[in-house]
Amino acid sequence: MTLTSSKPREAWATRIGLILAVAGNAVGLGNFLRFPVQCAGNGGGAFMIPYFIALLLLGIPLMWVEWAMGRYGGHHGHGTTPGMFQRLWRHPIAKYLGGFGILITFGVGVYYVYVESWTLAYAFFSITGKFATVTTHEQMGLFLSSFQGKTVSPYFSGIGTAYVFFLITFLVNVWVLWHGVSGGIERLAKIAMPALFIFGIILVIRVFTMGTPDPTYPERSVINGLGFMWNPDFSALRSSKVWLAAAGQIFFTLSVGFGCIQTYASYVKRNNDIALNGLTTAGANEFAEVILGGSIAIPIAVAFFGVTATAAIAHGGAFDLGFQAMPLIFQKIPMGEIFGMLWFVLLFFAGITSSVAIVQPAISFLQDEFDWSRKKSVVAVGLFWFLLAHAVILYLGHGFLDEMDFWLGTFGVVFFAFIQVPEFP
Ligand code: PHE
Repeated sequence: MTLTSSKPREAWATRIGLILAVAGNAVGLGNFLRFPVQCAGNGGGAFMIPYFIALLLLGIPLMWVEWAMGRYGGHHGHGTTPGMFQRLWRHPIAKYLGGFGILITFGVGVYYVYVESWTLAYAFFSITGKFATVTTHEQMGLFLSSFQGKTVSPYFSGIGTAYVFFLITFLVNVWVLWHGVSGGIERLAKIAMPALFIFGIILVIRVFTMGTPDPTYPERSVINGLGFMWNPDFSALRSSKVWLAAAGQIFFTLSVGFGCIQTYASYVKRNNDIALNGLTTAGANEFAEVILGGSIAIPIAVAFFGVTATAAIAHGGAFDLGFQAMPLIFQKIPMGEIFGMLWFVLLFFAGITSSVAIVQPAISFLQDEFDWSRKKSVVAVGLFWFLLAHAVILYLGHGFLDEMDFWLGTFGVVFFAFIQVPEFP
């Protein structure tokens, strides 16, 4: 089978819409939840040197490779890596290798949408005061794990609440995708991205004016939180684990190595300046990650709990810092319900503009290579997505999410990046 397509394809309506959509693709839960956890769990400052090296040597060059590949593929009617690889490398295996570009991304989507739904739930809990009486770390841990259905507690007797929020989140995603590239994804990004940046800046200002919340522990301060992140530790450069974690995070946060940037890039016009698009997106993403993401969760957690406890929370799970430490903190500050809601709505916006991007390649693949209509493709992919997400929802207690996050989000993307670069002449 040769992948061919000649049908007219969708396109981004405006340049600003395109930039916001691709920034929305990159800026996600990775920036605000995964990054602080990876950073704190890998020694804080120890993590940042490999992180920046990976950004400059791997992230940005790959971003350009993927933009170029995507624009080229789109021009030939291919929005996904199987068709693109085949055009670039006329070898029978090329399109199958390209298939990883859909599988890895879609695999991430399977757990991503579930975590995204927690953010919606927690936004609701914040404003309704659902965790107002949960005041210790252990209790908040129990609140989270019973919400996730891992245990039973006075707060939640089962997975029901989480499931309802999952359904809502899932349906909103499908609704956006149903309306297409410019009518759905671009319109969403034009609202969600500016809001996200405004909320992020408000939260950073709040954190920076926090000082030392408990004078009995002078070492627990925002400044020490920033110091934990920014004091470099050169000895960590010898640790391959830290290097893999840093490279994995760069891939994850920039959405490179997934086969996903190519899909968004395939909808640009032929003469669009992709070098500038790539840099703008990477710049916006790093601002959101290092400046906003890095200035919220870690400094505030260190200010309230100290460095050791913050690192311990980070070791607890890929996404727990945001759901365990942050709600506790918001209860201790004036107008915490409002700040809590801002934080979780920010996460929801970050999440949804990424989850639609994560699933779009599978949809584009069916449209481009099988000539399916957009709506038929959305329904088919949506059903599959819905079914698979249940594995994560039901088996979360068995470490399913962290396991998937490592194999797809850290290992898979680095692997895929290495097979795609030689494709490029
Ligand atoms: N970059 C997104 C984040 O930081 C995740 C993502 C991965 C989005 C792959 C699209 C494709 O959360």
